[in-house]
Amino acid sequence: PDRYAVIGHPVAHSKSPQIHAAFAGQTGQNLAYERLLAPLDGFVTVMRGFVAQGGKGLSVTVPFKLEAHGLADMLTARARAAGAVNALHIVDGRIVGDNTDGAGLVRDIEHGAGVALEGKKVLMLGAGGAARGAVLPLLQAGTASLTIANRTAAKAAGLAAGFAAHGNILARDFHALQGGFDVVINATSASMDDQLPPVRPDVFASGALAYDMMYGREPTVFMRFAAEHGADTRDGLGMLVEQAAEAFLLWRAVRPDTAPVYAALRAGDQ
Ligand code: ATR
Repeated sequence: PDRYAVIGHPVAHSKSPQIHAAFAGQTGQNLAYERLLAPLDGFVTVMRGFVAQGGKGLSVTVPFKLEAHGLADMLTARARAAGAVNALHIVDGRIVGDNTDGAGLVRDIEHGAGVALEGKKVLMLGAGGAARGAVLPLLQAGTASLTIANRTAAKAAGLAAGFAAHGNILARDFHALQGGFDVVINATSASMDDQLPPVRPDVFASGALAYDMMYGREPTVFMRFAAEHGADTRDGLGMLVEQAAEAFLLWRAVRPDTAPVYAALRAGDQ
């Protein structure tokens, strides 16, 4: 079988092997997918070793997405825009770096949550790596506007300036956010500390979707806040499955059906 792996530190809890095994079974693709724990200073060595043994592709997770971006021989446009790589594809001995996180987010909003982004007012909270990876795919989905709010305002302004040529992107301070948004995405890491970004309840338009890129057994504090103020909520488990599906498509040229894989993860031990 062709060999693939997820590389990270830590990597023991990664759901990628389970997800890709399910995709392979479903599509009849003959592949093996393993976990590679790289030491913090050993990403390049472990990655190159896997490629030398015939590895065909890698999922890259924390904390190596920037390093993977730096060493790829070629980058896709969306990886260049994201400034980070979460999927490596070995093509004729060359390492192609891609970023499927933003496309996975867009696909989960549209197909998982059933919200078409075209013409929608979108607010994204956060301006770190997770937010940056989502900007180009969100603009390319035809959003009417994409507003970025971040605790450190200068980072939001920098992100908006960097993507101004690609669509209607704005930076606003949290306290200066005006009116309701159709989709509010939490791309901060605040949920990991059970913190709520400083948003006012009136950011949610009637019928808004509140999307947290984080996921867990319980709804995040952002999701609970959004639900209290009338929004529909969704966590990032669907994004996880969809970014994997985009990587699988890159490697195997076959798009797997994400719905049963999402359902199994949701039902199982998260
Ligand atoms: P990631 O790769 O998850 O995006 P990151 O690049 O470190 O991680 O970015 C974390 C993001 O979450 C930043 O936008 C950060 O805001 P600052 O730029 O002001 O640091 C945001 N963040 C983290 N904790 C937060 C909190 N408690 N409230 C609001 N924003 C928070």
